[in-house]
Amino acid sequence: MPTELQSLHVNSVPGWGSDDLQHLKNLKRKNTFATRQQTADNAGPELQQIWLKKMKKIMNQIDNSGASDRLWVVPFSNRPFRFLDLGCCPGGFSTYILKKNKECTSVGLSLDPTQGGHPYLLEESLRARQTVIFADMTTFHLGENTIYPDDLIQPVTIPMPEILLARDFDLVLLDAHHLRNQPASTADLLAISQVLIALLSIKFGGTIVMKLASPDTQYTATMLFMLDMLSTFYVIARGVGGKPDRRLQLQDVIIPGLKRLWESRDGRARRLLAGDLDFIIDNRQLEGYGARLNELCSCVWQLQASALEA
Ligand SMILES: C[S@@+](CC[C@H](N)C(=O)[O-])C[C@H]1O[C@@H](n2cnc3c(N)ncnc32)[C@H](O)[C@@H]1O
Repeated sequence: MPTELQSLHVNSVPGWGSDDLQHLKNLKRKNTFATRQQTADNAGPELQQIWLKKMKKIMNQIDNSGASDRLWVVPFSNRPFRFLDLGCCPGGFSTYILKKNKECTSVGLSLDPTQGGHPYLLEESLRARQTVIFADMTTFHLGENTIYPDDLIQPVTIPMPEILLARDFDLVLLDAHHLRNQPASTADLLAISQVLIALLSIKFGGTIVMKLASPDTQYTATMLFMLDMLSTFYVIARGVGGKPDRRLQLQDVIIPGLKRLWESRDGRARRLLAGDLDFIIDNRQLEGYGARLNELCSCVWQLQASALEA
């Protein structure tokens, strides 16, 4: 397949080189993740509980990553706080946040367990403060145009739930993860859908926490550039659209660009291709971002390599 037709999740940014990255790639080649991923999508109740705990711990680390500067991701109680948890099941992130801040409320969105999604394991005592929506977010209609010509077969999309459109979320978590029991072709649509939902629902000035993989791929490098801040391997972007120039950029460039991208697929799944995200940053400019990215990511690559070597 010609390079320009490969998914942006696969394409590496040309011109980048890093010993740490090369070492990690060699290890991955030997030690494929397939078995682990297979287990992940077919987990029994015990394993689900282990993940719930693991996700709580990760949220704790994310929350405290800025604690030395008193910059917690989740504020302590005493002020209204509302968050949106995309891909919320089994519920580790939500459990941590709802327990830390006893006044906060939230919306969780996740694939219905009857459609192959992970089960919802939030403790009963916390459920009153979370509205949960079981839906496949790739089926929300996220484009600008809502009317299709009669002669086109209308793809099956549903309106984005009203509760997500109030721009009242102080924090949005992006952790929906494409499952192996879903068609491979929907992976990129899920990535674009969740970024758009987050940008359409976040309060201006709010915080986004986003999971990303393989910083050397064009997709992740572009998202990192867009959020312009990397922490551990979850990206924490504070003050999203909080300043007038950032808000203009978000409303006039990023959201319309993502909507055009969403529309260009008519709701049907296709891979993200070279050039699709050029409205954020193009490939040539990304090359210039490589040195900074190596600086930000070499600790991640070293950590991943040592986990594979252990
Ligand atoms: C890694 S898990 C998230 C874990 C969660 N952050 C926690 O703290 O427990 C990924 C979740 O994304 C959900 N998911 C996958 N595809 C989805 C889709 N198309 N729409 C909504 N949720 C989806 C899965 O069902 C799964 O619950």
